[in-house]
Amino acid sequence: MGDKPPPKPDGAAQMTDEEKHMRMNIAAGRANPILAEAIAAALDVQLTPCTIEDFPDGEIQVSVDDTLRGNDVYLIQPTSPPASKHLLELLLLADACRRRGAVRLTAVVPYFGYARQDRRVHGKEAVGARLIADLLYTRFERILTVDLHNPAIEGFFSAHLEHLSAVPLLAQALRQSLSADSIIVAPDLGAVKLGQQYADLLDLPVAHIQKVRLSGRQVSARRVVGDVRNRSPVVIDDMISTGGTMVSAVEALLAHGCLPEITIAATHGLMVGDAAQRFAHLPLRKLIVTDTLVQPPRPSLPAETVSVSHMVAELIKVLSTP
Ligand code: R5P
Repeated sequence: MGDKPPPKPDGAAQMTDEEKHMRMNIAAGRANPILAEAIAAALDVQLTPCTIEDFPDGEIQVSVDDTLRGNDVYLIQPTSPPASKHLLELLLLADACRRRGAVRLTAVVPYFGYARQDRRVHGKEAVGARLIADLLYTRFERILTVDLHNPAIEGFFSAHLEHLSAVPLLAQALRQSLSADSIIVAPDLGAVKLGQQYADLLDLPVAHIQKVRLSGRQVSARRVVGDVRNRSPVVIDDMISTGGTMVSAVEALLAHGCLPEITIAATHGLMVGDAAQRFAHLPLRKLIVTDTLVQPPRPSLPAETVSVSHMVAELIKVLSTP
């Protein structure tokens, strides 16, 4: 009796009158203009014009070329490679938006770089994921992201976080390349829960691999857990960076008698360095990633890109509705 009702989880429920009358703007940095355009198109708005320049000394200058007085602004910028540059560009954009009158700022970071720095492995490293989350909250009220490397990192976000999953979209796209002998494979222990999610959505069995990282580029698959003989593996992960994890997983699966009909799926296709060339030698049925990062055409691979634009746009619609 007399207790206050608990605060509603949705920030919209606590909006001030000023916030209730805000107009929505979508602006973007240079990390993924294609996705930004797709999100704006799905919301039926034009991207707010911004000018971003690299100076000869390496500094970035950002200007927002429209007033944002009283507005609710969504800045689209994955912190993809070069992660530090894209992060700083996002913070500079936030500063420019605020100075042009934005009332509320949401960082839409479909790929959250530095997420793998989520603990001190040898007790002496920086915890980059925590630092970046803290930095973003110095300029943004809310952060929207897709498939964090490790769901436990949510604990690093001390204010409003919206965490979307692209797994149902990828699972839907995978359906076309499945056969009766398909099996989901998690390429390391960290991906086992993710593998189970795909297995549940697609009603498939699941196996996993025990991996050891030898260097930034090279990993070694120590053991395959589960029977993959005469099966078509669907190897899933949250991200593909150098491709080392996937290559060693596929080699181990082939050595354990799987069929040379491999499918690879991951939310974030960083594909740094020669990752695409490394994959060209694998017996791939399909390689599926999303567009959280720009995906150049890859004619040498059976590649498919699934867009997260509508999923992100739908959430922005909800967040911007008083
Ligand atoms: C590691 O824990 C991640 O989930 C990925 O397996 C890893 O980051 C992929 O990196 P790479 O492609 O360089 O092996």
